[in-house]
Amino acid sequence: MKTAVYPGSFDPVTNGHIDIIERSAQIFDKVYVAILQNSSKHPLFSVTERKELLQRVTKHISNVEVVSFSGLLVDFVQEKNASVIVKGLRAVSDFEYEFQMALTNRQLSQNIETMFMMTSAQYQYLSSSIVKEIASFHANLDGLVPKEIQADIYKKIDLRR
Ligand code: PNS
Repeated sequence: MKTAVYPGSFDPVTNGHIDIIERSAQIFDKVYVAILQNSSKHPLFSVTERKELLQRVTKHISNVEVVSFSGLLVDFVQEKNASVIVKGLRAVSDFEYEFQMALTNRQLSQNIETMFMMTSAQYQYLSSSIVKEIASFHANLDGLVPKEIQADIYKKIDLRR
């Protein structure tokens, strides 16, 4: 059984993330979408809320499980008996940071492979930050995040004002 972990902040999940999740679920027997519990960032959504949003938009994919983790990613990957870390690559600007992380993870654990997937063309520019920026102006989120979580994003942004 080939298991992969797709880690990230997912604050909130975007259509770009879902694209990577759907495509990895076709390659691997099991995909853990792993939300980093990171107290140093100031996320819009709590980990519990991010998990619920992710579960809502991935419920159609039977071999995907949404989880959260803290500590080192490679430790979590090992704990789940996975051997691959999946990351999405958008523009060239992602490359340097992702390359650094992949090499660091390789240094920490030689038997875990990082696999990069090129984001589909229509999501090259998309990020959770862009989604939050657009939502703060109550502009249209169609095509950026699934319909079923748009109200949650507008509501949360308004609560923050
Ligand atoms: O969506 P993000 O914020 O780009 O995801 C970053 C993430 C969660 C993949 C990265 O921060 C991470 O793996 N953090 C766990 C700590 C760790 O293992 N660090 C060593 C590798 S750089």
